[in-house]
Amino acid sequence: MSAAGLRIAPAGGLTGELAVPGDKSISHRAVLLGAISSGPVQVRGFGASADTLSTVAAVEALGVEVEQAGEDELVVHGAGLRGLDAPHGPIDVGNAGTLIRLLPGILAGQRGSFELTGDESIRSRPMERIAEPLRQMGVEVETTDGRPPVRVRATGHTRAVSYELPVASAQVKSCVLLAGLFAERGVTEVREPLPTRDHTERLLRAAGVPVDRSPGRVAVSPAGELHLDEVDVPGDFSSAAPFIVAATALSGSNLTLRGVGVNPTRTGLLTVMERMGARVGVFRRRLQSGEPVADVEVRPAELVAADVEPELVPLLVDELPLVALLACFAHGVTTIRGAGELRVKESDRIAATAAALNGVGGHVEPLEDGFRIRGVPTRLRGGRVDAAGDHRVAMLGAVAGVCSQEGVEVSGASVLGVSFPDFADRLAAVSA
Ligand code: S3P
Repeated sequence: MSAAGLRIAPAGGLTGELAVPGDKSISHRAVLLGAISSGPVQVRGFGASADTLSTVAAVEALGVEVEQAGEDELVVHGAGLRGLDAPHGPIDVGNAGTLIRLLPGILAGQRGSFELTGDESIRSRPMERIAEPLRQMGVEVETTDGRPPVRVRATGHTRAVSYELPVASAQVKSCVLLAGLFAERGVTEVREPLPTRDHTERLLRAAGVPVDRSPGRVAVSPAGELHLDEVDVPGDFSSAAPFIVAATALSGSNLTLRGVGVNPTRTGLLTVMERMGARVGVFRRRLQSGEPVADVEVRPAELVAADVEPELVPLLVDELPLVALLACFAHGVTTIRGAGELRVKESDRIAATAAALNGVGGHVEPLEDGFRIRGVPTRLRGGRVDAAGDHRVAMLGAVAGVCSQEGVEVSGASVLGVSFPDFADRLAAVSA
């Protein structure tokens, strides 16, 4: 990659086999729950990236020892449920939204004052969504005009609440559930308007915490201790997604992705792709640390437009830019609605996706809460994509590049390090 950007050449197809890095959402959670477990927790398949390393640095700042035990293996020496120390200065989360939303739920049960901040993009992201329920739980939380820096003053105990999420967000749900572990008594309940990723619930169960679940509702009781022992992190579906999409769009593809997490709260992309006529097979399904894992095989396909309705959005929230790209190749018009949350991700992903795809020859109309895309079943022209400081937009630009006539130059592509540092090399390795 030059300082100017990453140049992606057109490809005839993606072929061969590939394993993607460990799931980012689960890697964050394994380290955070590891930090408050009793005793050491072995984390295998840890997806090391700028975001997840911010979580390691955060728990270290809170007095937890984290040992690098192998290339993608960590041992987190848990300090116990209430064993975290107040650090000397602010905790810098970098670009990690999951860290800044989940950690306050854990800090709610410690003693002391904590300040969390991050990079410029993090400092523009809404934080009242976690501050509000934490205040209801008796925790003092201050935001800066609704955004980071965030200050948490905690006394070691919280009050159990029944909280209805105003937006479907796994980060907010997780924060409230984590704070519920520290309630003096009673059950903390979160009700969600639509199902969101459930990795926190699964990992809490693996750590011995009874988690009560019914449709639209999840509840935890105060915990005595967490015993996690080991976590085997599956491959990240969101990192597999750019490859699945590119291999579908390119006529010469025959690609297998091994060991991918296929938790149904994450695989909405496959639902939409099936409607579009894609040929994606999910084989060798198994369970790994309570998470569904499989191998994914992708063949090229001619696509037809298929709308994405609001109910599906949380199940593919991070893949919506890629759906917009696929829709560029599909016969007909695709409409995506109910995705207003994309406006407050690492970038305004509605604006950034439309700008990226229109800049390389697509026909994408940004809507307030989604997109309307007119598909033309030929390659995109190609050109230049600005990553807009957003790793998912950088990956989108690279996928557009392999599917283009002239190639794509992705500027600001170093932001790929946020979730998938060697993405460009892996893409080159399977590009034919
Ligand atoms: C995440 C939840 C989603 C997702 C983010 C990771 C998580 O955010 O977009 O990349 O790990 O819980 P929201 O919960 O805000 O939708």
